[in-house]
Amino acid sequence: MKPRHWWISGCLALTALFALSLSSCSTIERTIVETPFIEGANFVGNKACYECHTNYTREFPSSAHARVHVGDAALKGQTGCESCHGPGSRHIAAGGGKGRFIVNPGRDSTACLTCHVQTHAELRLPHHHPVLENKMNCVQCHDPHGSDIMKASGTGLAMARLNDSCAECHREQARPRVYEHAAMREGCTACHVPHGSMNSKMLTERDVNLCIKCHAQTQGSVVGAGQIYFGIVDHTDKITRGGCWSAGCHPAVHGSNISPNLHY
Ligand code: HEC
Ligand code: HEC
Ligand code: HEC
Ligand code: HEC
Ligand code: HEC
Ligand code: HEC
Ligand code: HEC
Repeated sequence: MKPRHWWISGCLALTALFALSLSSCSTIERTIVETPFIEGANFVGNKACYECHTNYTREFPSSAHARVHVGDAALKGQTGCESCHGPGSRHIAAGGGKGRFIVNPGRDSTACLTCHVQTHAELRLPHHHPVLENKMNCVQCHDPHGSDIMKASGTGLAMARLNDSCAECHREQARPRVYEHAAMREGCTACHVPHGSMNSKMLTERDVNLCIKCHAQTQGSVVGAGQIYFGIVDHTDKITRGGCWSAGCHPAVHGSNISPNLHY
């Protein structure tokens, strides 16, 4: 397979206005391996899809993926719709239709992974969402066509919607509580990596650093040599007992109905 070079413009607004003045934006060079293959089909370009798929073609220009450009002019047709769905000529000649000479990456994320090699690597880490195992798919969290790449049911602020997309499958962690943990307002990704992690439960940190990164800042944590305080509570001995949540002190990290200290 011959690697193909393409770039993504670093600034959307400028690109839209001056399609040729990309040099003024930061550009990220990457290499992709293959677009999906469809026997006997050619690339026809986005315009050929307009007539029948108006809803997708209307929203697509605002998508991050509409910003993808192929460096090599000969490969220009391979951006846009066909970079994920494969070359469209046979699909169109056949009058379109489900399963007719077109790839639907909603069933198989291979089309996404050829470009997103970093995501692919993350999904292989010891603790990960089972995407490569085909138990779930990128589009359960991401919207490939729209302006907001995070798929979510709600209409609130970006972060609330990000939590919503997790809540669809993890109701238990996301449900409201009497004593909520304010960290949840920063989103699940304040503590979890979305694709995969070396740490169990896909945590961003494996130890007390997970909690200290916020709490040491919000409360004067160091008083005197070797003394560690959170609020008014001296934690100097406690912290040596283990993780803040795993040593039995604050296991209710997602919030509690009983304990303001997230003890149960
Ligand atoms: C970044 C990859 C990507 C790009 C670019 C892309 N799509 Fe899609 N498309 C998908 C995925 C993934 C699905 C499956 C969505 C799902 O199952 O929710 C899909 C589904 C579809 C469907 C089927 C929807 C259905 O009801 O089953 C159509 C039609 C479609 N896309 C058309 C287009 C058109 C037209 C364009 C260009 C304007 C385009 N797509 C660009 C990834 C992409
Ligand atoms: C002549 C009309 C027509 C054109 C042009 C057309 N399609 Fe379709 N396409 C259809 C129809 C009809 C369906 C079936 C829709 C359905 O059942 O909801 C379909 C389905 C699809 C699906 C879903 C396939 C599946 O198996 O789930 C995708 C993806 C898709 N088209 C992408 C494209 C892309 C990309 C282009 C442009 C290269 C394109 N289509 C051009 C008519 C067309
Ligand atoms: C042709 C290559 C290509 C394909 C295929 C592709 N992407 Fe992308 N995607 C990009 C580029 C380029 C960006 C821009 C951001 C960057 O620099 O990584 C991007 C950005 C994204 C982002 C982040 C957007 C943001 O605002 O930060 C997500 C999420 C994403 N893609 C998901 C997907 C999914 C899901 C699929 C398959 C349905 C897919 N991509 C297929 C090239 C691709
Ligand atoms: C469990 C939900 C989930 C699944 C499944 C998922 N993602 Fe993501 N993805 C996220 C979240 C959450 C972010 C971070 C968004 C943020 O912090 O703004 C993200 C970010 C990204 C980004 C931006 C760069 C980065 O890593 O921060 C890319 C690219 C991306 N995802 C691609 C993919 C692809 C491709 C797939 C499928 C192979 C996929 N994702 C599956 C939730 C998911
Ligand atoms: C489409 C459903 C779905 C969505 C959406 C989803 N997850 Fe998951 N999540 C899963 C599945 C399936 C597993 C694996 C469960 C298992 O292996 O027992 C999982 C596992 C996890 C785990 C535990 C990992 C472990 O090692 O035990 C965490 C943490 C997690 N998800 C967080 C998130 C976050 C954060 C989001 C939003 C960015 C999210 N999930 C969105 C389905 C989903
Ligand atoms: C303040 C940090 C923090 C935030 C924010 C957070 N989590 Fe967690 N989460 C944790 C910790 C720590 C664990 C491990 C708990 C344990 O091992 O008992 C965990 C465990 C999980 C698990 C695995 C549960 C199990 O029983 O294996 C899931 C699923 C999960 N979180 C989902 C979410 C979702 C969804 C959100 C957002 C709505 C979220 N988390 C927000 C810290 C956090
Ligand atoms: C994203 C930032 C953030 C992270 C990460 C975080 N917290 Fe919090 N936490 C807060 C905020 C903000 C409050 C509200 C109280 C305050 O102003 O300090 C809070 C409150 C608490 C409380 C209630 C007691 C009090 O001081 O009000 C406990 C207990 C707690 N967090 C434990 C933890 C544990 C255990 C972890 C690690 C698993 C953790 N937190 C991670 C931001 C965070």
